Amino acid sequence: MSLSSILSTTHPGAVLDAIADNSLTSVMVTQAAPDTPIVYVNKAFTALTGYTPDDVMGKSPRMLQGPKTDEAVLARLREDLEAGRVFEGEAINYRKDCSEFLMHWRVFPVSDPEGTPIYFVALQHEGDS
Ligand SMILES: Cc1cc2nc3c(=O)[nH]c(=O)nc-3n(C[C@H](O)[C@H](O)[C@H](O)COP(=O)(O)O)c2cc1C
Repeated sequence: MSLSSILSTTHPGAVLDAIADNSLTSVMVTQAAPDTPIVYVNKAFTALTGYTPDDVMGKSPRMLQGPKTDEAVLARLREDLEAGRVFEGEAINYRKDCSEFLMHWRVFPVSDPEGTPIYFVALQHEGDS
């Protein structure tokens, strides 16, 4: 059975919310609009970064970056998103308490039936794997 067939049954929202709430992987959703405003983060994001949903709503994911963040990785991300490719990479990010960690993340577009991106989704975890 595919995930979409489960999601199209009786309680699609409940299934998806339970997956996101219990995920060990941080999930972030942004609008596919200038500065990619954050519209959703799950509990694992708060565990990873210290930021609550209220802290980040409407802001750019750039808020996780700081002096040691690798600009070359960000340039590659920009190129991948503009070309409609999946991005995967690692860079130093900063928690709410200003401590630094290595973020490993993947970003991919979610598009409407015409193929226009409406959201970007990131799956994020700490470390180099
Ligand atoms: C869905 C999504 C999630 C992102 N997550 C992160 C992240 O966890 N850490 C990070 O350093 N940048 C992240 N970014 C990248 C920045 O938002 C931005 O795209 C990057 O800094 C390059 O653009 P800029 O040159 O305008 O800053 C994410 C971007 C998107 C679209």
